[in-house]
Amino acid sequence: MKVSVLTGGGDAPGLNAYLKAITFKAIDEGYEVYGFLDGWKGVLENKYIKLSKELVEKEYFQGGTLLGSSRTNPAKNEETINKAINNFKATGFNVLIAIGGEDTMGASSKMFKAGIPVIGLPKTIDYDLYGTDFTVGFYTAVDIVRDSIEKLISTAKSHHRVIVLEVMGRHAGWIALYGGLAGGANYIIIPEFPLDLGDLVKVIKDRYNRGQTYAIVVVAEGVELGNINREVVDEYGHMKLGGVGEQLAKIIEKETGITTRSVNLGHLQRGGPANSIDRIFPLRLGYQAIELVKNKEFGKMLAIKGNEIVKIDLSQVEGKIKTVDKELYNFAKSFFY
Ligand code: F6P
Repeated sequence: MKVSVLTGGGDAPGLNAYLKAITFKAIDEGYEVYGFLDGWKGVLENKYIKLSKELVEKEYFQGGTLLGSSRTNPAKNEETINKAINNFKATGFNVLIAIGGEDTMGASSKMFKAGIPVIGLPKTIDYDLYGTDFTVGFYTAVDIVRDSIEKLISTAKSHHRVIVLEVMGRHAGWIALYGGLAGGANYIIIPEFPLDLGDLVKVIKDRYNRGQTYAIVVVAEGVELGNINREVVDEYGHMKLGGVGEQLAKIIEKETGITTRSVNLGHLQRGGPANSIDRIFPLRLGYQAIELVKNKEFGKMLAIKGNEIVKIDLSQVEGKIKTVDKELYNFAKSFFY
């Protein structure tokens, strides 16, 4: 049996843990393992390498993905679909394990329907993948936001300032919500619910009146406050986000008269080594993916519900995202102070 794997979409800490588990378990089953380079682009360009226990063990501790990644969409049109199918069949590989977020899973679902035996594994720092309580990269990104907030508190306190921290997450507010709560942010704004500017200003002013002469406000990049022109940048039609933090800082300074600065955390949320959760779960899921290979069970994504591994049809994941619900945001609002 020849197993192949790809890592697609935005990279994330923990991807190399997936590759370690897949490679170790597959080789122990007597299979060969190949990694396509740069996501679905490697399939379209026939670029892949053979994986060994030695290589994946050496790279296990590294952030990012040893295979590289891209936002290539194989299901972009008939030509790319046919090219991907013909290339894959010519390799003689028996299965393709696709590791990615909603775009990669959506494309993988389409490629499965077109005839490629695919198994999906969940990855995205955004945590917005439908059907799973785990996506590799998310909890490490939350730790990075938490650490950043704690650093910003000391400088905001020293200069009696408000600092706005813009974080990633695309059109979901998970990173902002969990990172903000973990770091003790004084206010968190997410795309799922409109900004109540009056409430934000009141919380900040009440702080200063209590003598707490600083505030940290976390805002998710997908929040729209108007007049930022965006251009489409990738093959899945995603706009390039970023800039709302600076915009919000100007609004806060105007409304409160308090000096306000902004920080856009950007790709620091995707960089560096994975925390333990983002190593253990990929090891478990990657190992289990080879069980599906043994049973020739394709067209599914492995996911985590609670602490259990579950299977979900890729067609169930396609075209959906998971967003923060009102109850959870109301829980977070109880700590805006
Ligand atoms: O999907 C992960 C993510 O980091 C988003 O949070 C962010 O908006 C996007 O990728 C950035 O994409 P790129 O790395 O292609 O600029």
